[in-house]
Amino acid sequence: MKVLGVHIGHDSSACLVIDGKIIADAAEERFTRIKHYSGLPINAIDYCLKISNISIDDIDFIAVPSKNPYPELNFLLDLKGENIERKSGPGRMLEFARRIMKSSIAKPPLYIKNFPIKDSTELIHVEHHLAHAASAYYTCGSQEKQLIITMDGAGDGVSIGTWRGEDGKITPLKKFPVSASLGWFYSNVTLLKHSAGGTVMEKARLWGWRLMEIILKSEVFWNPIIPNLIMEKLLSSMNGEFHISGMKEELISGILMKLMRLKL
Ligand SMILES: [Fe+2]
Repeated sequence: MKVLGVHIGHDSSACLVIDGKIIADAAEERFTRIKHYSGLPINAIDYCLKISNISIDDIDFIAVPSKNPYPELNFLLDLKGENIERKSGPGRMLEFARRIMKSSIAKPPLYIKNFPIKDSTELIHVEHHLAHAASAYYTCGSQEKQLIITMDGAGDGVSIGTWRGEDGKITPLKKFPVSASLGWFYSNVTLLKHSAGGTVMEKARLWGWRLMEIILKSEVFWNPIIPNLIMEKLLSSMNGEFHISGMKEELISGILMKLMRLKL
């Protein structure tokens, strides 16, 4: 069984799994030389197929890591009829707003390569955190009972998930909504510091929570735009906890994004 995994979004990528073994995987940024490239992973798919000497016709399943539709696949896989990926309600509204604002995303030019799939090739949507859990569990080298923890910015409305892996199967235990997203908080802090995530992770390993506190206090706290009360609440509510009590992640992200735009 040949499965081609396709991700379109931040760090667009593709991977090929044949009979349960990872044969190839590649991020599109390696070909475009644009960090975190988020366009169509055309070169990555091409690489996966070429390295294993097969064509798109040989693929049994295309797997995408989201329950939501991927309208970009309509072009990439030349989907037709009932197989067309249609935008969800909010997605249609966003597109409508973009059209009014004349900022709708341009369609790929006709000369761009795509990979038309056969009728028998099935497209499957995998819940985002389940895809993360599977990539950890099925590659850990053991099918015995495992606790799997997935932590993300957000994926299919979930920021953190806990799962049980046992006898080759994964079952969900508990999921935390995006309002408890430490991932978004972390990405905002790394962006705020204009540093790579790895640098912050290395320092966090040494200093732990104190790092976040120091960054926020030194970079943000002094700014008169941010009411001290809000930042006090943010710091105290996140100290050692991953639940942001009483604060919506939009508010936290909004504050930090605003600061970044002001180039503080
Ligand atoms: Fe993710």
